[in-house]
Formats: sequence, structure tokens, C-alpha cells
Amino acid sequence: MNTPPPPPADSAFSGDEQGYSRDDLDRIVAETFVERVEHRPECASTNSRALELAGDNSASCTLVLADRQTDGRGRGENRWWSAEGALTFSVLVKPDLFRLPTRRWPQVSLTTGLAICDAIDELLSDPPACLKWPNDVYLGGRKVCGILVEGTDGGERSLVVGVGVNVNNSATAAPAELREKSVALCDVAGRSLPRVDVLVAILQQLARQLDRLGSEKEELQSQWTCRCLLTGRQVEIELPAGRRMGVCRGIDADGALLLETDGGTERFVSGVVTRFD
Ligand code: BTN
Repeated sequence: MNTPPPPPADSAFSGDEQGYSRDDLDRIVAETFVERVEHRPECASTNSRALELAGDNSASCTLVLADRQTDGRGRGENRWWSAEGALTFSVLVKPDLFRLPTRRWPQVSLTTGLAICDAIDELLSDPPACLKWPNDVYLGGRKVCGILVEGTDGGERSLVVGVGVNVNNSATAAPAELREKSVALCDVAGRSLPRVDVLVAILQQLARQLDRLGSEKEELQSQWTCRCLLTGRQVEIELPAGRRMGVCRGIDADGALLLETDGGTERFVSGVVTRFD
């Protein structure tokens, strides 16, 4: 959950407090494209740790998985708050694995969001998960997941795909300013879910969708437009040059947000959506 304040001391967490077992870690390697898991009971930021590992060639397809993250980073200046029971991980992806040309890298965030929507739908039948362009997943109108994709510089370049999902960290225990805006999977399911099940489902869907991105499958555009939370809504987007308003008309094949503004249909490749009705 994006927030400036520190986590509260108590929480309504009632799930898999023990973290991940040896069997869980073996299962991740056996059932997904991940080759190695670096499991940490506590980590400041799994993205920062994965970026450190990126220089090591043998670290391809490494998953950094934290039971608890203490200084999670979000997009821009945002921090990512996660209480006990949240799923926080980063996976180091060598773009060659999915034959991802550089021009497709900006769409990795949306594609990850799509994979997470598919995984959530697999685990919970209702309501359907939605993509909030460009890096959030919503469930029942509230944020359930944030994504932070970062690239490494120099040498053989890699992508770090960082994901935070509210799984068993119920929004009822979140700081007041987040309570109305966030939701956890356990809130919707009415029970706690093993985080490893959520993680395996996400990684399997991620491989499937990144493979589609690498093979330039056209259906990706229709899938992310179909999942787009903003379509048909009045949206305000913040850009370095100021704010723009328009009615969202979906997402184009390059992952740009389409807004019908006073000047016609405009495409936005970056920006922060600050409001939507
Ligand atoms: C956002 O909503 O702005 C993105 C939040 C991304 C949070 C995840 S949690 C795991 C990974 N490690 C981090 O430091 N950030 C990402």
C-alpha cells in the first residue's frame, strides 16, 4: 500500500505468520520459471536487493522473497507500506529469456499487472481484478497490488520486476488514510490465503504473459484494455508540464493511456493518474 506514515504496531493479520517453508521454496523453483530463490525473513526493499544481484550473471531468474519488507519503494517518491502477511517479492528477469526487445520493456509493468489480474481471478472468482494504468491492480475498486519495474544499467541489462500484493494484511488494520482505498485478498476471500499459492500463480501467469509480449501477440492490447479500470471514466493525469483531463478510451498497443481531451484523443506514455471518477 502506498503511504508516507510508518506501519501500525498491531494488525489484523491472521495468516501464514511463519513465512515460507523449505518446501514452499522448492515448489516455487519446481513450478515456475524461477531458478533460484533468495529468501529473507526481513529485507529493506526486495527491488534494491535484486538490483544488487543483477550484476551477477548466475543470478538470472532469481527471486528475492521477503517475509517482511521494511523500506519498500513505490513509483516516483512513493513508499510501499506492507504489514505482516503481505506478499513482497522481486524477480530478476533477463530479457532474452522471453525474447523481449528493448522497445517492449516499457510495457513490462502493464504486462505484469495483467498477469497478476489473471492470477487473482484464478484464486478468487469474484470480483474481477482490474488494471489501473500503468502499475496498479485493483479489486472491487480498491488497490490490492503495486508494481515497480526497474532496469539495470551497463553490461548485460536486466529487468527487476517488483510486486507487492496485500494478501493477508487486511485493509481493516491499515492506517486510516489507506483503509478506504486498499483491500487485501483475505478481505475479499473472507479467509487467509497461503502466500506461496498466490506467488506461484502470479509467477506462472507472468511467464505466460511475458512470453506473449516477447512474441508480439496482438491480443495483449485487447486484454489490457479489457482489464482497464479507467476506461470510460473522467481521468486526471499529472505530467511534468501540468495536469490534463480527459475520458479514458483504453490503452493502445504500445501501452499508452488514451484520453479523449478537448484537443481530441491523446496518448500518454507516462504520467501519474491523480484522479478518476
Ligand atoms: C507503487 O504502487 O508505486 C509500486 C509499489 C511496488 C512495491 C513492491 S513491494 C516489492 C518490491 N520491492 C520494493 O521496494 N518495491 C516493490
